[in-house]
Amino acid sequence: MILDNTISAVVTGGASGLGAATARMLASHGVKVAIFDLNEDLGEKVAKEIGGVFCKVNVGSTEEVDAGFAKARAANGQERIMVNCAGVGGGAAKTASIDRETKKPKEYPLENFERIININLVGTFRCITKSAAGMLTLPVLPCGDRGAIVNTASVAAEDGQIGQVAYTASKAGVVGITLVVARDLSDANIRCNTILPGIFDTPLLARAPENVKAGLAAMVPHPKRLGRAEEYAQLAHTMITCGYFNGEDVRLDGAIRMAPR
Ligand SMILES: NC(=O)c1ccc[n+]([C@@H]2O[C@H](COP(=O)([O-])OP(=O)(O)OC[C@H]3O[C@@H](n4cnc5c(N)ncnc54)[C@H](O)[C@@H]3O)[C@@H](O)[C@H]2O)c1
Repeated sequence: MILDNTISAVVTGGASGLGAATARMLASHGVKVAIFDLNEDLGEKVAKEIGGVFCKVNVGSTEEVDAGFAKARAANGQERIMVNCAGVGGGAAKTASIDRETKKPKEYPLENFERIININLVGTFRCITKSAAGMLTLPVLPCGDRGAIVNTASVAAEDGQIGQVAYTASKAGVVGITLVVARDLSDANIRCNTILPGIFDTPLLARAPENVKAGLAAMVPHPKRLGRAEEYAQLAHTMITCGYFNGEDVRLDGAIRMAPR
């Protein structure tokens, strides 16, 4: 797909970090961008900067996602690019453990598991299916594409650490659906790929002390630093513009393999 001002895109999580870098990258090529995010202040700020539209959307809610697509399409027309970056971490707990205070066995709090799956996995698929259905109303471009979808998993999908069971399940789910979505949408000429970021320097990590960030950077074989959001956007650009890129889950991680803890 060739990026220009005849193309529209929706970027979830576009108010910050990897999503904001991707929204900026797309806009720099003339693409009309709509940002779906919970963070109104940052989302409006990025949208204004790139001449895009901000839609306050929780990707965990069907009603809010529907309203977001309606607003985005009214402003920019039907999108051909869907980038899913909205996601949450947290909920760290072991599958079962001994409670420090009561000394009694305790189970994993399932409500955490369901919350993280609903945002990271169901939220991603909710946007994929609604966006792809909308793309079906558009003609195929001369390049042969009708649309392109990029999702965000994590290296935790493959080497999840102790306590990360919910996050890992949600991201492994995103990795798992990539090929089947690409196959489902193959006769519609819509491609689907997923990026598995390693450790990226985004606002997600900004709160961490410098020595913690330096320790994380030292774990990366090469280059010995955290990933830059622009590098994520660079791979997203390739996945969107390279017509033969389809059905792939690609690690972007400086060769890091996460240890158990
Ligand atoms: N930064 C990293 O090291 C790293 C590593 C692996 C994977 N990831 C994944 O990359 C994605 C982007 O992370 P980031 O580092 O840019 O973080 P970030 O916190 O900078 O950006 C995430 C954005 O998603 C938004 N968001 C969160 N929940 C939402 C919801 N329910 N609905 C709509 N928007 C929501 C937040 O408001 C925020 O603007 C996430 O899916 C994250 O799991 C990040």
